[in-house]
Amino acid sequence: MFTMIDQSTMIASAGPISDLEVDLLVLPTWAGDDLSDFPGLIEASGGALQSARLRGEWSGKAYTSCLVDLNLSEWRASRLLLIGAGDGVISTGQVRRLATTATLTGRSRRVSSLAFCLRGQLEKAEAGQAAAEGLTLGEFDVGTYKTEGDKHTLQEFIVNSSRGIDGELESAVKRGRLLGECSNEARALANEPGNSLTPTIFSERAHSLAEGTNLGVEVLGPTEMEELGLGMLLGVARGSAESPKLIVMHHRPKGAPKAPVLGLVGKGITFDSGGISLKPAESMERMKDDMAGGAAVLCAMRAIDQLNVPIHVIGIVPATENLPGGRAIKPGDVLQSAAGKTVEIINTDAEGRLVLGDALWYAKRCGATHLVDVATLTGGCIVALGTITSGLFGTPGVWVDAVKRAAEVAGDQVWELPVFDEYKQQIDSEIADVKNAAGREASAITAAMFLKVFAGDTPWAHLDIAGTAWIDVARPYQAKGPSGVAVRTLVELACASETWATG
Ligand code: BES
Ligand code: MN
Ligand code: ZN
Repeated sequence: MFTMIDQSTMIASAGPISDLEVDLLVLPTWAGDDLSDFPGLIEASGGALQSARLRGEWSGKAYTSCLVDLNLSEWRASRLLLIGAGDGVISTGQVRRLATTATLTGRSRRVSSLAFCLRGQLEKAEAGQAAAEGLTLGEFDVGTYKTEGDKHTLQEFIVNSSRGIDGELESAVKRGRLLGECSNEARALANEPGNSLTPTIFSERAHSLAEGTNLGVEVLGPTEMEELGLGMLLGVARGSAESPKLIVMHHRPKGAPKAPVLGLVGKGITFDSGGISLKPAESMERMKDDMAGGAAVLCAMRAIDQLNVPIHVIGIVPATENLPGGRAIKPGDVLQSAAGKTVEIINTDAEGRLVLGDALWYAKRCGATHLVDVATLTGGCIVALGTITSGLFGTPGVWVDAVKRAAEVAGDQVWELPVFDEYKQQIDSEIADVKNAAGREASAITAAMFLKVFAGDTPWAHLDIAGTAWIDVARPYQAKGPSGVAVRTLVELACASETWATG
């Protein structure tokens, strides 16, 4: 049976926060906050809050924590955690981060149960959802293979509203919980080493993700790829002893309209050594996450099914290793793509665009009317946008804007880069129709231009998550390791189809 990695429970509750019987009561706080909306709370801390204020520990400064014991018997919680939210104008994105900070702090303080309290302007369903997402995101643990040291996990989460509960908050919390879980599942996949997540095992994980859902899963192997003519995907796979897989997931609810059909395509390189154009050893281990885009697509598909999104959605992940075996493709080789275009290989490390080009073609063949691909595609995107923001590319503008809006709602930061026709020149080949790599100039854009060749006239957007898929430096609201970026954006986009599907 498929089980999500976290075994904790989460519920929405209502009523006075003094009644919450938990190890840790969490309240957002802000500059100038005096907690006057909770009479008796200051007293319950037995003077600890007043002195924290004097020390400057309770300041409201963003993401700072202030932890005190609660001693009065009218208060059922044992401890209170105040987390700073800055000037008090709190966005849903900030609620999500505050909630993650709460779980991370709760884990380090070894509490078992935690209640996150919506306050004032946060008393909205969207805030409840964001809180549930953030709390769940805080549960992710990278130490999968550690056999030593005791792990502490939280058992129980409450999202509390003091205003009284309605069905809306309850379903918002459920939705946030699901989105958080599916993001964590994508993070777990991205965290798996190359030897434990081969293309074959990745495809098996796709089957487990679909357990208990109405998703259809289909996995194509080399023979079917040969028949379809997926020469770029097969070309990349040549250097590896592992069999490549094209993982296909269908969400096709009864009564779904013929159009739109949303095609989600995720890069699934389970390890990227660069191939014959071998990467330097420094940080090469990180290339185990070169399937983070594929993981995001598969995990988004699970959420899309669970949320009964009313349209047909197809998820496609071309999965292979990129290794320099004796039969590997070489610079100078020419490959034949499924779309019929010939491709000169300049650099075997530009493998992502090759497998994605064939996968985009396949998505269109399956009937996709709107395409989004997600990929850890270029170092150039990291140079341009760093690790905070994913690159967004595509055409036409209305479709790119729809993806931008979805990302905004989801809390994934994206920024659009251009795909002007003039950039196409850089990937013109002398011997073939296109080449797979140009120089360092605008390399994130030229990679997108390559994908654009295969998207053709179909509305298409591309998210380059090379910089955002993995967090190197921990933040109060985000642990180190895989981020789960793009999962929620894709789900949000599928849910918002009425805003972008034109009749
Ligand atoms: N998977 C890499 C991109 C990458 C680099 C992701 C660093 C995360 C961190 C991709 O396959 C790649 O190697 N891209 C090359 C392309 C180049 C050879 C044209 C790049 O961007 O350097
Ligand atoms: Mn590469
Ligand atoms: Zn790669």
